[in-house]
This record gives sequence, structure tokens and C-alpha cells, in this order.
Amino acid sequence: MKNETVIILDFGGQYKQLIARRVREQNVYSVILPCDASIETIKAYNPIGIIFTGGPNAVYMPDSPMCSAQIYLLGIPMLGICYGMQLMCHMLGGKVESCVSSEYGQTQLELKNTGCPIFKELSGSQTVLMSHTDMVTKLPEGFISAANTASCLNAAVYDEKRSFYGVQFHPEVEETKRGKEILHNFLYEVCHASGDYSMDDYLKTTVDEVRAKIGNEKVILGLSGGVDSSVCAAILSKAIGEQLICIFVDHGFMRKNEGDEIESVFSKRDLKFVRVDASERFLSAISGISDPEKKRKTIGRLFVEVFEEQASKFNDAKFLAQGTIYPDVIESGANHTATIKSHHNVGGLPEHTRFSGIVEPLRGLFKDEVRNLGRLLGLPDFLVNRQPFPGPGLAIRIIGEITREKLDILRDADAIFREEMKRSRVKASQYFAVLTDLKSVGVMGDFRTYDYTVALRAVKTNDFMTCEYAPLSHKLLKKVSSRITNEVKGVNRIVYDITGKPPATIEWE
Ligand code: XMP
Repeated sequence: MKNETVIILDFGGQYKQLIARRVREQNVYSVILPCDASIETIKAYNPIGIIFTGGPNAVYMPDSPMCSAQIYLLGIPMLGICYGMQLMCHMLGGKVESCVSSEYGQTQLELKNTGCPIFKELSGSQTVLMSHTDMVTKLPEGFISAANTASCLNAAVYDEKRSFYGVQFHPEVEETKRGKEILHNFLYEVCHASGDYSMDDYLKTTVDEVRAKIGNEKVILGLSGGVDSSVCAAILSKAIGEQLICIFVDHGFMRKNEGDEIESVFSKRDLKFVRVDASERFLSAISGISDPEKKRKTIGRLFVEVFEEQASKFNDAKFLAQGTIYPDVIESGANHTATIKSHHNVGGLPEHTRFSGIVEPLRGLFKDEVRNLGRLLGLPDFLVNRQPFPGPGLAIRIIGEITREKLDILRDADAIFREEMKRSRVKASQYFAVLTDLKSVGVMGDFRTYDYTVALRAVKTNDFMTCEYAPLSHKLLKKVSSRITNEVKGVNRIVYDITGKPPATIEWE
């Protein structure tokens, strides 16, 4: 049985994924569709509600994104957010004009006593996030205003008879203090959702679907130990057991003990696990290369080569599995593309014509849902909560040429930093050590040293597209510095990277 679904129509707003996640958090399944999705596509989902996202355009400009006008005739409840509200009002005969003064940031919203269902249990003044330069100045027929701010007369509007709702503010962001309740009211009071979406259900349905699709055939999965490929392996092993062959190409650029940890988790599961120790091959291919792009390309090419060699040993496998997740699907813009994506993100696999199909059991999930599913499947915390780790691994955290000695130094230094970060419980989205190519003079005991400088990197970010450095305490930095210089031979200086992105990137290469 299909879950009740809410469609999020994308008008280019930066919060579309957040809206979709907020809906799912309330146990209602959601999908994001482009704003010009055909009415047939929309109807095929049999949605219980439709949400219009915000967007950067002005509805009265000629090329602004629109939706099909027939959407208003479907009899489905709708919620327009920001641009979405303006568009709804504009298309239904209202008027949208430029504001005298734009509103950005947290604002006080004054609720009118209209009994508007999306504000059930809320009254008076509310803190909301506004971000707009246009506003609805004339309401379409049948609409009334439910709230205003000091400079926006129609900050929330609705037509209860047709179940059309519009809010000028963003209920999906944390800055809107009671945004969750407003979305909850829309879903449960207006769309009458039953809340039938949960990870347990997703797991059951997906396991059934995978079994039906695969039958008795074999499936190959490239396992990197990252969250997505690990959860993909766990769900497939639950569905098809030993018909699943996981190939873990160990390029030798993993962090301390990581290869063994991954092996110990998956070799205990009901699946066929192949660990290929290709570290010698990778090290010799990369030796003498210091250009970052050349390193990435060399590793990417070789990764594909080794994976192909191993996969060809299982030439009876009909399916290739991938840990593609929903943000990949949305960003690629093509809903049913068969593009093969490498789990290592280090090059992308060429077309495998011999595979007759692709299995992507996580295709509908956001990252936090993938983590929840991983927990449900009994994967250990270190895998489920794993920070992003670049496909080329430590090779791009060693500046300049890579040698075995440098890899050992970095592994040890990185392990100490991660251990102390974990112990301190500091909140950072990603943290690691980098081995710079810089040697400098130091003194240890009575001896002069000439050793490497290790840089520590810890960042705070929501999306990894931008970041700020994490303000670590001096006490913690001192402890890490002292431990690394004492415990790791070959390092005599530690620096902390205090750059954000931009202008830097998170990784050093
Ligand atoms: P940058 O360095 O571009 O990194 O600010 C942003 C995020 O992406 C990760 N990253 C990679 N992930 N393959 C990956 O799978 C790569 O080649 C790669 N390079 C960077 C990085 O760790 C950070 O989380």
C-alpha cells in the first residue's frame, strides 16, 4: 500500500528540502516536484496536500516560475509559502506588489482571531522568519487575512472553503518558533493526514519491493563504509541475504583501523563480503604525484579499474546496487536516471551493460532518515553517525606527495584529534587532521628536530557548501597539540585552521 503523500512544488526556494523533511518528520511522506510538473504527474501521486515553496522571483515578472492553473481545481488542500503564497494569490485574482520596505529576519507576527485552522492552539504574537521584498496587497475572492506584521498586512491568508492557505513567513525554519505546529496543523487539521509514514514501514515496504524485483538473482554493491553504502548493504542483506555481494575496495587511504572496522561489521552479516586490499597498487599509482586534481583522477580511475576486476568475478550478478539518496535524485533533476554513481565519488563507474538493472533502496530518503534506517537495521553508531569522508580518503589530506610514512603519521595524528574531540563532546560537523608539506625546526629534549606540521580542521556547517571554523577551546587544542607531538613521531608543530568556506574549502586539497 502506498503512503499518503504531500507534494512539494519547487519554485526555486532554498528551503525545499527542509520543507520535505519537516513534513516527513510529522509522519507524512513527501516528494519534491518541479513547479511545472504536469497535472497528470501530480494526480498520479494522489496527494493529500500540496505545498508551494518560496523562490527568488517576483510573481508579476513575465518569466517567473508558475504552476499549472488546473492545480487549483483538483480540490486538494494547498499551502503556499512566501513566493508560493504570492503566486497562489496572483493566479487566483489577487494582487502582489513590491513592499515599501523589505522584511528580512525574525519578525513579530500578529495573529488575528479568525479561527484559521493552521494556527490552531496559537494566538497573539508569534516570532517568525520573514524574507521578502513583495507582498500580497489584494486578496483573491474568498480569502481572508489571518495575520499581519508591522509592515505586511497580509502575512497569512486563507480560503477555508477551498482549503487554500498562504503564509508570507517560513514555517519550515527553526527561527519560526512554532513553525512545526503550523505545518502539523496544515497536515493534520487541513489535509487530515493519518500519519502513516514511518521508518519501520519504509523498511518493510522496501524489503518487499527489493525481493520482488531481484527474485533469485545476485546483486553487486560497492561498499565504501560511508553511511549511504553501509545502510544500503544492511537493507539489501536483510532483503536478499547471500544473493548480495559487497565489494569493499580498500585503497589504503582509510583512517586508522577503519578498514578492519568495516570488515568486522559486514563480515558478520548475512551477505557475501569481499575486501580487496589494493593499497600497494594505489600507493604505487599515486607515488610522485602532488597535484590535487591529478591525485583525485588517478585514484578515481584506479578505483573503477579494481572494482570492475572484482565485479567481473561475479559475472552471474544481474543487478548493481547503489546508495543513491533523495538529495542526489533532486539535485540531478532527473527522476529515473540510470546514471551509475560511484560510492566513493571518485570518478563514477562507466556503464555496466552486463547488469540488467539497478537497485537503489535509499532513493527516497534524506540523510537523517538514512541514519535512522541504519539504526533500525542495527548498524553500529560509528558507521551510522560517520562524518563525510572524501572518496580519495587521506590522500587528499596529505599535501604534496604521498608516502607510506606520511600516511602512518597522519593516521596517528588524526586518530588522536578525533579521540579528543569525541571526549570533549564539542559540537562540530566535521573534523580531521591534515599533514602539511611543511617541515620546520623544533626542539625535543636536547635535540634539534626538523619535522612535519600537522594542521587541525574542525568546522560547523549545515550543508557542507559553506562553513565556519569551530571555536575549539584553548584547553582542548593544547591537549591535542601536546598528545600529537608527544605520541606521533615525525611531527613537531601543530596549527589550527581558522578559515571558513569561502574563502577556504573544508578539505585542504
Ligand atoms: P570541500 O573541501 O569541497 O568539501 O569544502 C565539502 C565536503 O565534501 C567532502 N569531499 C568529498 N567527498 N569525495 C567525496 O565523497 C571527494 O572527492 C570529496 N572532496 C571533498 C568534504 O569532506 C566535505 O564534507
